Amino acid sequence: MPRHPFPGTGLPRTGLPGTGHDPLIASMVAGLPAGQQPRWPDPSLLPPVHDRLAGESPLVSYAGVRELHELLARAAEGDLCLLQAGDCVELTTECEPADVARKVEMLDVLGDVMRTGSGLPVVRVGRIAGQFAKPRSDDWESVPGGRLPVFRGPVVNAPDAREEDRTPDPSRIVTGLEAARRAVDALDALGRGEGAAPQDRVWTSHEALLLDYELPQVRRHEDNGSYLASTHWPWIGERTRQTDSAHVRLMAELDNPVACKIGPDATVDEVLDLCAVLDPHRTPGRLTLIARFGAGRVAELAPLVRAVRQAGHPVLWMCDPMHGNTVKRPDGLKTRRLDAIMSEIRQCVDVLAENAAHCAGLHLEASPDDISECEGAGRSPERGPGYRSLCDPRLSLVQAVAAAAHWRLPVGAVA
Ligand code: PEP
Ligand code: CO
Repeated sequence: MPRHPFPGTGLPRTGLPGTGHDPLIASMVAGLPAGQQPRWPDPSLLPPVHDRLAGESPLVSYAGVRELHELLARAAEGDLCLLQAGDCVELTTECEPADVARKVEMLDVLGDVMRTGSGLPVVRVGRIAGQFAKPRSDDWESVPGGRLPVFRGPVVNAPDAREEDRTPDPSRIVTGLEAARRAVDALDALGRGEGAAPQDRVWTSHEALLLDYELPQVRRHEDNGSYLASTHWPWIGERTRQTDSAHVRLMAELDNPVACKIGPDATVDEVLDLCAVLDPHRTPGRLTLIARFGAGRVAELAPLVRAVRQAGHPVLWMCDPMHGNTVKRPDGLKTRRLDAIMSEIRQCVDVLAENAAHCAGLHLEASPDDISECEGAGRSPERGPGYRSLCDPRLSLVQAVAAAAHWRLPVGAVA
């Protein structure tokens, strides 16, 4: 795995008191193994980009981060439930007020379904305002006549199948920051951002993957620690959750609540190590584990749940019924079946309940647009205008409502 070259020195401490960039964490993380980073053809273009991001005002406030942390602690107690949903890859061209309004409406509809099913207030979290970088299973994509670097998200390269579009371009990192700010501003303008009542708020989250985007956005906060100011709730993906990785070290140093995806190949030892590193003080709300096993393997979650409970970590468990259920059709189109997604949700709720834990909510890839990317509820995906995802297939609103209606409290639980 390549070492991450982020220099981590010489960056200005700018901004309001208590909100200056924290170069210490960047230098701590520099040099640790970092998977899924682009091969920038000209790394000398990076330092000005880092400086620009480090000098920006924070996208989210530390007060907001703390407020979400408190809500997650209440969710760990079973007083609230969680909905985290949005695009697989968010486009920087879809962060305008009208885009954000549609996404918020979708979160409201899905949140209402979960509230009706559980009787619990719902904390709404978007995969929004920064879900711009994607982990990929291959570095290359075969195209007629050769191969191209794979699309890694709009903060790295462009999706079009041409060499010049797929070449990683550091100026896209700045475009990402500007788009994220437009999305955050749009949430504020809707009355759903900073200053909104907790029950109205839409919190931001994304996979903290691209270190050249994240490290310059680490800020000091007034309680004498550091937080990631690019989002309220960063998560680590299934491919970068190695305990000695740059990504895990970064999350360990931050005071945001953090989440980590866990797939069916995770061992008990790996999960216990992650809990020890990411939640050393056993703080309710600090760590969420997002299970993404697939409908056929979710029973294998049981020993992990027992081990975490026995180790005394008050983690929140969530169900991502999407990423373990992706199938590639013979024609190469990636899709997911709604019935598999619903089956995983049901099983996940039950496995957690049988092992003295509870499923605090759902993590979905879904879009309010008229799409046909997953199979079910009258939709059969075909290449064409209805299949727009540039990464994983998303649920349409109707499909997502069906999925959310499948999430429920286990039998016997009292809301
Ligand atoms: C994702 O959430 O889009 C993703 C890539 O998930 P995972 O890390 O679980 O594969
Ligand atoms: Co995805």
